[in-house]
Amino acid sequence: MAIRKAVSSLAKQSARSLATAAAPSNKPPTAVVLMNMGGPATLPETHQFLLDLFMDDQLIPLPFQSVLAPLIAKRRTPKIEKQYAAIGGGSPILKWTRIQGKGMAELLDELSPATAPHKAYVAFRYANPKTETCLEEMKRDGVKRAIAFTQYPQYSCSTTGSSLNELYRQVGEAAHKGKETAAQDDIQWSVIDRWGVHPGFVDSVARNIEASLASYPAESHDKVVLLFSAHSLPMSVVNRGDPYPAEVAASVSAIMARLGNRNPYRLVWQSQVGPSAWLGPQTSDAIKGYAKKGLNDLLLVPVAFTSDHIETLFELDLEYLEEAKELGMTGVKRVESLNDSPYFIRAIADIAAAHLKSGQAVSAQMGLRCPGCTNERCGKQKEWFEGFQEKIAAPAA
Ligand code: FES
Repeated sequence: MAIRKAVSSLAKQSARSLATAAAPSNKPPTAVVLMNMGGPATLPETHQFLLDLFMDDQLIPLPFQSVLAPLIAKRRTPKIEKQYAAIGGGSPILKWTRIQGKGMAELLDELSPATAPHKAYVAFRYANPKTETCLEEMKRDGVKRAIAFTQYPQYSCSTTGSSLNELYRQVGEAAHKGKETAAQDDIQWSVIDRWGVHPGFVDSVARNIEASLASYPAESHDKVVLLFSAHSLPMSVVNRGDPYPAEVAASVSAIMARLGNRNPYRLVWQSQVGPSAWLGPQTSDAIKGYAKKGLNDLLLVPVAFTSDHIETLFELDLEYLEEAKELGMTGVKRVESLNDSPYFIRAIADIAAAHLKSGQAVSAQMGLRCPGCTNERCGKQKEWFEGFQEKIAAPAA
């Protein structure tokens, strides 16, 4: 509670000092486009969300995708609607993304005055506001310079790759064909594609873990098992050469080092869908396995999500924590998501400021396709973003 108060006061102080520091400007904003999967804000949006999600063969490859995806989406809608109803009637991801984006943009004006003013935009892959809506808003604002900033800390072609391919489809493909679209094709783009070991991100997760550990009796702090939980991937995606498992593991190692490696830990995977093989062990099975081994104190750490959504509020809190109680475990808890953490908001502002200063259009790692990639759009998308390198000038220090 004391930490929560301190953090809230830090955010207020920061906002006050920034409000006085920000200067009015007629320049179009530097756009920072926060990309994520999104979630239905209301129950009636659930079916369309699921349909878009299952139609994305980069996220969930299915045989006969265009036939099977609508069937699966229709069958799963009532169950998923009930899950969203249980967490308050919709996903809070847009609320948190807007709070994070506003705080980040205010800090960026101070950290990078040469590129101010900055404005956060939201581009969700499967829910509103989608990429096309975001691009229309940017057009109205007269944006000329934009950063595609993934809100997945660790890169996967299923998540960040899919969002970048969608952005390329909406802007780059149309521009290549000389088509007049709602999106401007004169925007200079660059990409922040991964940041899973950034010290600010690592520190903000570690702080939330420390706050949760403090809720256990002092003598058992170092014995609590940290169960880092990330969204799983189909093994067909892993075996294609997707970088995500290694990047999530790197985040876990960095967070453990920041915590002084005092607790035992494991990395486990959640949210498997369908009968095909997915990366494991599954979070639920890991909890059951440790229950059988007589462990009682487990702390679940969402390590690949930056705010609450259904995977934390329903799957972890209502499914797995309940299962653990039924197994007789009394010490299973979940670390709070980053949500409005001022440490996290500062981290994403620092990441964006360093990126603007670097003058780099894309990272060296982004240009490399998976060894097993057969999706031509991946190659064209990477080429298109790399093409901005010559046009992007680093602002004066
Ligand atoms: Fe990884 Fe295409 S699937 S680059």
